[in-house]
Amino acid sequence: MGVAVVTGANRGLGAEWVAQLLEDGFEVYAGYRSDPGRLEMLACPTLTIHQIDVQDVESIESFAKSAPSKIDVLVNNAGVADGRWRNLTEIDDKWALEVMDINALGPVRVVQALYEKLNHQELAKVAMISSLMASIEDCHMGRSYAYRASKTALNMFTVAMKKEALEDNISFVILHPGWVKTSMGGDRAPLEVIESVRGMRGVVQDLRLEDSGSFIQYDGERLPW
Ligand SMILES: NC(=O)c1ccc[n+]([C@@H]2O[C@H](COP(=O)([O-])OP(=O)(O)OC[C@H]3O[C@@H](n4cnc5c(N)ncnc54)[C@H](OP(=O)(O)O)[C@@H]3O)[C@@H](O)[C@H]2O)c1
Repeated sequence: MGVAVVTGANRGLGAEWVAQLLEDGFEVYAGYRSDPGRLEMLACPTLTIHQIDVQDVESIESFAKSAPSKIDVLVNNAGVADGRWRNLTEIDDKWALEVMDINALGPVRVVQALYEKLNHQELAKVAMISSLMASIEDCHMGRSYAYRASKTALNMFTVAMKKEALEDNISFVILHPGWVKTSMGGDRAPLEVIESVRGMRGVVQDLRLEDSGSFIQYDGERLPW
């Protein structure tokens, strides 16, 4: 049985990742920041839940200690939007840095803490849940300043880290879930959570070491940087 870890798993896309990985027969370790939420409804012998705040190194390390020694799939899903600012004069350092800390550095901290458990004989896969809004080429609308910048930074952290990880048989994929109906995506989003996660799971399933660092949409389409 494969072992999978999902962060930000109490609601939205993260909770659906947990549900589908359990259906696939994975033993799943799911992180929630403060409220287990949907994870309580998913309770079963192959699901372990743990408090993980990706801004809090102690919570990540405590989880890493309790996790099994071999991890096959890590889904770095936890993230926040900004969307508070109407124009560039309103950007404030405090919230911008918080968004950067959660979306760009949070996943790096989780990879660092779990690295030794991802480093084993079989191919381990790390999905970084990014966004098309990270794309510099696709940034026609502007705004969402810190969210965009944080996901662009996440993409570069990933591409920069993947080079070392190739030697350790760890493959990264940078995923855009599509525009999805969650609390972040809102009701107008065209895509259902189930469909987005089903697509992303397919991409992760097909991921090879030589694909590491690709920026891919939930349906397999490659995205511009
Ligand atoms: N929905 C979309 O259209 C869309 C599009 C592109 C990319 N994405 C990305 O997909 C991922 C999931 O988004 P979603 O749509 O499912 O959003 P969501 O419903 O707002 O869920 C976000 C999740 O991240 C968790 N989280 C936030 N900060 C955290 C922290 N410091 N530590 C641990 N967990 C934290 C939240 O926990 P709490 O419940 O504690 O807040 C929640 O579980 C995000 O990375 C997002 O940027 C979403």
